[in-house]
Amino acid sequence: MKRAIEKKKALQKPELPPIPDDPVVFAREFFGVKATKYQRKLAEAFTKPFLTIVVRWCRQSGKSYWVAILLIWYALKHANVEIGIVGPSLRQAKLYTQRINGLLSKISPGYYERPFRKTMVRFSNLALIQAFPNNPETIRGHTLDAVCWTEMNFTADDLDMYDAISYAMATTNGIFIGESTPWSRNHLFYRMFTDDEAYPVSEVFRSHVSWRDAQKPKGPVDPKFVERKRRETSSDPSRWQREMEAEWAEDEDLYFPLDLASNCIGTEKNIGQDLEYIPEELIFTSAVS
Ligand SMILES: Nc1ncnc2c1ncn2[C@@H]1O[C@H](COP(=O)(O)OP(=O)(O)O)[C@@H](O)[C@H]1O
Ligand SMILES: [Mg+2]
Repeated sequence: MKRAIEKKKALQKPELPPIPDDPVVFAREFFGVKATKYQRKLAEAFTKPFLTIVVRWCRQSGKSYWVAILLIWYALKHANVEIGIVGPSLRQAKLYTQRINGLLSKISPGYYERPFRKTMVRFSNLALIQAFPNNPETIRGHTLDAVCWTEMNFTADDLDMYDAISYAMATTNGIFIGESTPWSRNHLFYRMFTDDEAYPVSEVFRSHVSWRDAQKPKGPVDPKFVERKRRETSSDPSRWQREMEAEWAEDEDLYFPLDLASNCIGTEKNIGQDLEYIPEELIFTSAVS
């Protein structure tokens, strides 16, 4: 009899701990991650919620990592929601879902479905996170509750893409998060940070973080990384400005303007398939001889 009870107990699914209301507490308790000050502020804006959020943080400051945690939190808190991830290419968007899978593998499998997939994360509460190619048409057919646009400033056809995203979230009052280091000024990402009339700060949460706030011990950036970047960019101050100060820089001295460069990235829309994303340090910089 005793053995039968024990067997029954073992077969029962263990009760899953509830998801904390605060994503910062969630990050700490579920992943052992201590949020930085700027990550805490972003979490606050996300839960308020601001429906439009733009994140302009320097390289390696924890943009993708933290937004991935926020998206997991959101999915676990809201059954049945559909969250989209877009970027300069499907590959970039898939890197996000892979990151999410990596994080999920650290918590109880009771929260999500396995096996892990490359373009999709399914949760036990039927929430779904999906990576999309850089093609507005693919997004148009969906109803989305949140969208994360990674490397936003590097994504071509920004207006078409944003239009499609707006339609997909028209009935859901969804949350939009765009995250990027700066690139071209001729882009929606720039306007969201600078056009106070179209994107008033009462409605659009803007977050800017330079290497100063992201460097250890305040943030995850290793001072050695900062020094290396300083050295590497000494002949190209614009690059330092964009990547580490997270500020837009003058690009007139470039042979090709920056937005022409991002428009040349092959996408599903313009050539029928997403080409490999080319990291910005390889385009028109000292990295290419
Ligand atoms: N709060 C944090 N605590 C510890 N490590 C962090 C934190 N936020 C980010 N990281 C780490 O910093 C690194 C860079 O993060 P990532 O999101 O890839 O940067 P970005 O997208 O800004 O370039 C990752 O290895 C991530 O694990
Ligand atoms: Mg990133």
